[in-house]
Amino acid sequence: MMYQKCIVCGEKFGADEIIYLCRRCGGLLEVDYDYDLLEAKIKKSDWQSLPLSVWRYKDFMPIRGSSKIVSLTEGGTGLHSCQRLARILGIKHLYVKNEGENPTGSFKDRGMTVGITKALELNVETVICASTGNTSASLAAYAAKAGLQCIVLIPSGKIAYGKLAQAMVYGAKVVQIRGNFDRALKIVLELSEKHREVYLLNSINPYRLEGQKSLAYEICDQLNRQPPDRVVLPVGNAGNISAIWKGFTEFRKLGLVDRIPRMTGIQAEGAAPIAQAIKNGRAEIVPIDKPETVATAIRIGAPISWKKAIRAIRESGGTAETVSDEEILEAQKMLARHEGLFVEPASASSIAGLKKLFEAGKTDEDEVVVCVTTGHGLKDPDIAIKISEKPSEVDAEIESIERLLGLSRYMPATVISR
Ligand code: F0G
Repeated sequence: MMYQKCIVCGEKFGADEIIYLCRRCGGLLEVDYDYDLLEAKIKKSDWQSLPLSVWRYKDFMPIRGSSKIVSLTEGGTGLHSCQRLARILGIKHLYVKNEGENPTGSFKDRGMTVGITKALELNVETVICASTGNTSASLAAYAAKAGLQCIVLIPSGKIAYGKLAQAMVYGAKVVQIRGNFDRALKIVLELSEKHREVYLLNSINPYRLEGQKSLAYEICDQLNRQPPDRVVLPVGNAGNISAIWKGFTEFRKLGLVDRIPRMTGIQAEGAAPIAQAIKNGRAEIVPIDKPETVATAIRIGAPISWKKAIRAIRESGGTAETVSDEEILEAQKMLARHEGLFVEPASASSIAGLKKLFEAGKTDEDEVVVCVTTGHGLKDPDIAIKISEKPSEVDAEIESIERLLGLSRYMPATVISR
């Protein structure tokens, strides 16, 4: 009913094989299903009566039963209609799918609930990942819930404080490397090939991406099966855009929706190999040696899933754009001040990218757009404080506060009572 398949040469591998790249050609793997069987299965199931969450879609997931599911209640995040921000941007229909509402504050939880459940099915005892922060926080939490050992490799000094705090408090073995994310990913890939007992849960693991595809399913269901025209999201290692596109294509294959949104990937200027390849019409990316951006979550120069991402963008008729750090931080503030949504800088790049594309005439004002905000603003408190107005400090006296706020003096009590 399901297997792992190479996206390049089509070679198939068993669903229970621990394998991260195609043994024949080295290509990326994805989970494939017999969609006729899947269609028959979901027709008989009562999934549509379940609440919105990753596990509403259990029938679509590569999991054998319910007994091993490790859940912290992930998914079911808000799809916020952002009319005030839409008006400011000059567009008509803007929604934000706010993934910061997940249990550890990012979309990674969708992947980890499935990835860790799969790890239990495979009788794994130790899990590992490289991370710019959110993956490590999420993996550490789910490993703790499942009673597994967890090792995370992070670039020293380059992950936001909230994320570091999470990985540490959940009890992971946190290893800071003197090198960037790309280097960390190379190391964990090599380590997990060499030491088979250590199970890799970066997004190269196709089971993790199966969980993340639920984001697309949710958008379809929240919009009554009328998919948006466009989905805009930040791209780092490029797993998420690939997973979301797979989710939309599956809903279409199963006859649940009739079209797929234009997948639109946004990267930070200093870390934009995929956006550059799309803009220049190249078939392959040119990795960036020293990626740099304020949005540390997407500070990635050699995205492992670039091939999947380029396929998602091209086949959906989408596009990619780059945004500067200033544009990212401005978008972060706009979203917070006009919509009450506090997201981390990488997440705000989706808004910044949409603004830039619309202003350049590359998107239409009538489009229904969903921007995915991938992580919570509290992940990176340092940035939030840096970009905001400092609090005022005054004496603890009512007069001082009246003076500060420009409030007129109290009316005498006799006047008030009249
Ligand atoms: N947004 C946030 C907040 C992220 O943490 C990440 C990736 C992305 C976007 C990009 O997603 O890699 O699937 O294209 N963070 C990874 C991590 C790399 O280690 O937490 P992607």
